[in-house]
Amino acid sequence: MDWGMRNRIARMFPARSGHTVMLAVDHGYFMGPTRHLENAGATIGPLLPYCDAVALTRGILRTSVPPSCEVPVVLRVSGGVTVLHEDLSHEAVTTPMHEALRLNACAVALSVFVGSPHEHETLSALGALVSEGESTGMPVMAITAVGKELEKRDARYLALACRVSAELGAHLVKTYYCDGFSKVVEACPVPLVVAGGPKLDNEEAALKLAHAAIAEGASGIDMGRNIWQSPHPVAMLKALRAIVHDRATVREATELFAGEKANTPSAPAAALA
Ligand code: 5RP
Repeated sequence: MDWGMRNRIARMFPARSGHTVMLAVDHGYFMGPTRHLENAGATIGPLLPYCDAVALTRGILRTSVPPSCEVPVVLRVSGGVTVLHEDLSHEAVTTPMHEALRLNACAVALSVFVGSPHEHETLSALGALVSEGESTGMPVMAITAVGKELEKRDARYLALACRVSAELGAHLVKTYYCDGFSKVVEACPVPLVVAGGPKLDNEEAALKLAHAAIAEGASGIDMGRNIWQSPHPVAMLKALRAIVHDRATVREATELFAGEKANTPSAPAAALA
């Protein structure tokens, strides 16, 4: 692995713990103006100082993130289908590698849909993107199991999807937490980061999920709705950082969240309206 690729990966996984807290704000590319992300800039701005990387599309990067931003960018480069369709797997690469380089991205991310009607196309796209990534020094993150079929997300399926992604050359894999998650980690030879999924009932439940994922071997989180759909997103991000970087217990992180609620900005009024 050449210096440029290693440098990009190192910037996303700070030496403090070797783990990462990625902020996922790429939902709009297929969900449209998701709740609390209607005004993306207002939601993202206060959170940037507390994340190790931000995952988003080129459209939101250009319109809603100031160019002075020093946070590494994970650029989502796949898309082409929306929640208006039953089959979400019909994605293609929508942002070419030269755009990722122009935008100074630290990694590119695309979804793979293992077991779905467009499995072949999305896995072939991953292979092609990895080849481009290897020749330009750009890490590629494969995103597994996005979609409506939540019941698919068991350890057997996720281990298969993550392993296939790594075998095709993905440098990082994003997946979901599940019972038996350590089996998913064991079978995947590259770092795994864990998404949060739809907003859980309360912040403690999301902190538990993050804690379990890290304890079972995840290299970090790439979380969205459970952060910015919380009325206290900055406090939530700080509590998650304590788990991911400082090995805080769920109780310590929950107490930190409770204490930070009063001292950190709430979700912007625009997002709460
Ligand atoms: C959707 C994504 C999201 O980035 C991923 O699902 C993480 O966000 P959340 O924690 O809200 O699930 O890939 O396109």
